[in-house]
Amino acid sequence: MRVPLIAGNWKMYKTAAEAEAFVLAFLPLVSGVRGVEIVLAPPYPSIGAVALLVRGSGIGVASQNVHYADEGAFTGEVSIRMLQEAGATHCIIGHSERRQYFAESDDAVNRKVRATLAAGLTPILCVGETDPEREGGKTFDVVGRQLAGGTKEIPASMGSRVVVAYEPVWAIGTGKTATPAQAQEVHAFLRGRLKELWGGAADAVRILYGGSVKPDNIAALMANEDIDGALVGGASLSPGSFAKIVTFH
Ligand code: PGA
Repeated sequence: MRVPLIAGNWKMYKTAAEAEAFVLAFLPLVSGVRGVEIVLAPPYPSIGAVALLVRGSGIGVASQNVHYADEGAFTGEVSIRMLQEAGATHCIIGHSERRQYFAESDDAVNRKVRATLAAGLTPILCVGETDPEREGGKTFDVVGRQLAGGTKEIPASMGSRVVVAYEPVWAIGTGKTATPAQAQEVHAFLRGRLKELWGGAADAVRILYGGSVKPDNIAALMANEDIDGALVGGASLSPGSFAKIVTFH
């Protein structure tokens, strides 16, 4: 019922030329793939080039951030309309690196999610606890607060268009993946919260897992009821390994 979504978050890797080379190598590897939505999230300067190259393939293109205002004096920022014109279909919002290094608050995350939905793009709202928070038994408090903050004032009618990504900060780029059981436990909690918020629409929300997803652990993660896809960093940088991940079944 929920089409799995697998997104590659390239972070601040790949020039436009490198991004184009990736897509040219990747497309033939996934041309026969059905039943999974694939999304690539290159850095801003490559979004237009990647969107042109994937046109007609069904592959989506995400930004890794966005500004919530339509336009204005916000030096260094990029608007949703600019992204849309460049061919973006999705926006990653509230990634832990944005929260940690760029002081992004739940309030800013919420404005970005609402603006993205209003413009017709798909937000990928990221939540996740740090190592001390997990050790301190605060995982559900933290992800519950981030989810509530990020989805504030979003009506049930728009809820099913939101994609949530659970990314435990201690698992990002560390090679330390959450076990499928640990991930499923948090995903089920998040879906429960979404049900309180949006009722039946929560059943349509894709909840992705992120944090050291690799070709050899994707199948075990995807076997869980509430894990509907993945947000992949390091292993999405090579066409071969990302193709293996999207062809997990
Ligand atoms: P990773 O990154 O797969 O390299 O752990 C995931 C992410 O930050 O989205």
